[in-house]
Amino acid sequence: MSNSPSTHNRPRVWLITGCTSGFGKLFVSAIVARGDKIIATARNVSALDEFKDTPNVRLLNLDVTATQGELDARATTALELFGGVDVLVNNAGYVLSGAWEELTHEQVLHQFHTNFFGQMNVTRAFLPHMRHRSSGTIIFMSSIAGWLGVAAGGPYSASKFALEGAAESLQKELSPLGIQVHLAVLGQFRTNILAEGRRQVPRPTPAIDAYDTVIETLARRQEETNGKQPGDPVRAVEWILDVVRDEGSVAGKEVGLRIVLGSDAQKIIRDQCLNTLRDLDQFDEFSRSTDFPGAGRVDAYS
Ligand SMILES: NC(=O)c1ccc[n+]([C@@H]2O[C@H](COP(=O)([O-])OP(=O)(O)OC[C@H]3O[C@@H](n4cnc5c(N)ncnc54)[C@H](OP(=O)(O)O)[C@@H]3O)[C@@H](O)[C@H]2O)c1
Repeated sequence: MSNSPSTHNRPRVWLITGCTSGFGKLFVSAIVARGDKIIATARNVSALDEFKDTPNVRLLNLDVTATQGELDARATTALELFGGVDVLVNNAGYVLSGAWEELTHEQVLHQFHTNFFGQMNVTRAFLPHMRHRSSGTIIFMSSIAGWLGVAAGGPYSASKFALEGAAESLQKELSPLGIQVHLAVLGQFRTNILAEGRRQVPRPTPAIDAYDTVIETLARRQEETNGKQPGDPVRAVEWILDVVRDEGSVAGKEVGLRIVLGSDAQKIIRDQCLNTLRDLDQFDEFSRSTDFPGAGRVDAYS
């Protein structure tokens, strides 16, 4: 549950990154329909013209890969639009695929700048505001790719694994300050994320033919999945709104760090947990045997 009883159902101000498409765009109408206000941001807000006259919507240019100084300045502007921000949704992202050996440092860095450092830096820009008010909710759009690596899927997975770890730590830092953090761990949802021109599978010239099969298999799978993903993004957005606003079937329930959305996400995470438990059991004695003989216990991290 992301609300104390005193704040329950009061109108909130949301700021969402990457609103030109997919989840971001769906958030805009869904938030307004619940009576909340939204600062819809995008690299180029001219792509959001359809919302320019919508009451309770303000548009703001925001590229999540901008410098911290630029993001801080955007945050200052954003906070003036409705007098504050209650909910930050770190949504902007894209999928870079390819073989480790073939991808360049610059390509992977750009994936991280968007999917990981972008989220960290935008969040850092709004934290002073939320910390001073001792309230706020921060949502990160994570993925089953942050739980499972697939061949040629390394860069996107790495960015989402990094996000999972960083957000888990952030939740522990911010919970005593009255700020909520959630990771929406999404399965495959029918947005534009795998559309041609959005998904990226760059290869060098000449390509290394040893990787042809894994890359072509992943690229074909992405192409075939595009438009047929099992997840309905409208439902996912409504669910996230329910969690933040403490409404619907989650009303009154304590929602933890992770909001797992999608039957595929449920299965992958469950299987990963069971496989990890099996590996731990199989090598239990062996793993423990590396302690110094007679070593005392130190406090475990939690
Ligand atoms: N759909 C899924 O199955 C799925 C599953 C797990 C997680 N997710 C996550 O959900 C989030 C939204 O994805 P989506 O499915 O809605 O994909 P989408 O339809 O492709 O939308 C992605 C959005 O991110 C924006 N964006 C990309 N780089 C940006 C930048 N540097 N600064 C600001 N905005 C930027 C895009 O804007 P432009 O128009 O300017 O490119 C676009 O608005 C992503 O973080 C994604 O990883 C999606």
